[in-house]
Amino acid sequence: MQCKWIVTGCLTLLFNWTSCQEISNLTFPDSFLFGAASSAYQIEGAWNESGKGPSKWDFIIHAVPIVVDGSNAEVACDSYHRYNEDIAALKELGVNYYRFSIAWPRLLPRGFLNEINPDGVQYYNNLIDGLLAEGIEPWVTIFHADTPFPIYYLGDWNNANIVEYFTDYADLLFQLFGDRIKTWLTINEPLMYCATFIKNAVRFLGQVSVPTGVTEYLCGHNVLRAHAKTYRLYEEKYKSSQKGRISIVLNTDFSMPASDSEADVNAAQTKRDFDLGWFLHPLVYGDYPQRMIDNIGNHSSAQGYPFSRLPSFTVKEKKDIIGAYDFIAINHYTSELTVPNNSSGITVSSYDDDHNIATFKDPSWAGSAASWLKVCPQGFREMLVYLKNHYKNPEIVITEQGYADEPNTLNDMERINYYRLYLNDALKAIYEDGVKLTAYTAWSLLDSFEWDSGYSIRFGLYHVDFEDGRRTRTPKESARFYKNVISTRKLTDL
Ligand SMILES: *[C@@H]1O[C@H](CO)[C@@H](O)[C@H](O)[C@H]1NC(C)=O
Ligand SMILES: *[C@@H]1O[C@H](CO)[C@@H](O)[C@H](O)[C@H]1NC(C)=O
Ligand SMILES: *[C@@H]1O[C@H](CO)[C@@H](O)[C@H](O)[C@H]1NC(C)=O
Ligand SMILES: *[C@@H]1O[C@H](CO)[C@@H](O)[C@H](O)[C@H]1NC(C)=O
Repeated sequence: MQCKWIVTGCLTLLFNWTSCQEISNLTFPDSFLFGAASSAYQIEGAWNESGKGPSKWDFIIHAVPIVVDGSNAEVACDSYHRYNEDIAALKELGVNYYRFSIAWPRLLPRGFLNEINPDGVQYYNNLIDGLLAEGIEPWVTIFHADTPFPIYYLGDWNNANIVEYFTDYADLLFQLFGDRIKTWLTINEPLMYCATFIKNAVRFLGQVSVPTGVTEYLCGHNVLRAHAKTYRLYEEKYKSSQKGRISIVLNTDFSMPASDSEADVNAAQTKRDFDLGWFLHPLVYGDYPQRMIDNIGNHSSAQGYPFSRLPSFTVKEKKDIIGAYDFIAINHYTSELTVPNNSSGITVSSYDDDHNIATFKDPSWAGSAASWLKVCPQGFREMLVYLKNHYKNPEIVITEQGYADEPNTLNDMERINYYRLYLNDALKAIYEDGVKLTAYTAWSLLDSFEWDSGYSIRFGLYHVDFEDGRRTRTPKESARFYKNVISTRKLTDL
């Protein structure tokens, strides 16, 4: 795998497009869809207005100074009041669809069905109808990190009852909006949420004895159970009349061996199983990857636990989970190289110790404003081929992909370069590798609140002026580039 060489070769392209001969002159298929994405908490603002209840994030960022630039999402892009400007931007781009999320605590301020916020219902009806009026298909993410505070208090995704709470909430969304929503995404990035966010949320509150090695897998287990239950609910109650499709959004870097050695190759496979296989293997094959079952089982018993820290599914749960997807939805930004870690893997119980793999980025890969995001388009193509070969050649939708740069970069040539290289590898995957990739979503429509990075890094195709009360949106050069890709369906006509 020569990621290094090609990325280095294409770096010159950053400053001189014409000198790069790598860019394909192929055309995206007629049926291929382009979209842009956002999430409620990152753009809506209006955090305490119009009947919205507090979310986990509202609580945490006001309780603990975790946001690097001291900012918050009280106003963010003010999309709650300015969604018409978002729709205008989407129309200008010419996207086929807009992937946004519904804020659970805006609709259900206490988290449960006993209190439904009519202003929340009205807001999402306005947004959905506004999109449809412009010919933009609304794609809804049901949960994107913003747990209602009362449910967070009850243990968030560690609490097995969340399976019922989530399914009740999803059922309400199908009733309210399902006549117009044809693409549903249940839960965003459980890997990120369960392996990182949920432990940090405890740590943020100063509780030092985080039960790592337990919380990650409980969270993941409940996510899978909630997703499957929701999928089956939709299938039984709504699918025949509403005719929509459902999946869950998985995120993964692509893990590639640092060398051809057997140990490094094996390390890459283990990491793929822990990152992607954790959720995808149950959906495709009905259970966790064998490497997870073995590693976590062995470590748990060596550590003196009377059970494996990785829970197991009942027969009924397996039956519900297997095949509970209409396509595979993936967020992918970057790749990583893997080597075995030297630790025993059993000193500490944690997700990282259970896979026991060390990862790093090749120093030659072009960087970004986010330390975790380095440019490796070949990793993207390899990931698509891996999904095809290991998960029964599924239909694949990229639900997020994008590049981080410094605030206020309007002439964002590095973002254009990133999209051009990644989309180029998407074309190769479609035409040369026969991958069934059918849609591509840029993250993000707008510069937005990037969780604990605040507004210090930016992903938007549109700049947002966070100093200005109007939150003025301005297209960056990348917006023009993406618009051009969508209208020509090619990467070569600039
Ligand atoms: C771009 O590359 C071409 C071909 O290598 C060269 O002729 C041209 O001068 C370059 N343009 C710039 C602006 O560097
Ligand atoms: C596309 O590129 C190939 C070789 O890279 C060339 O043979 C072909 O003529 C090109 N097609 C168009 C439409 O430019
Ligand atoms: C909502 O939050 C703002 C701070 O963003 C605060 O000034 C205002 O008093 C709050 N409103 C209510 C109704 O609590
Ligand atoms: C430990 O791992 C081995 C494979 O290396 C596997 O055969 C065995 O079942 C595992 N033990 C447990 C308790 O999972």
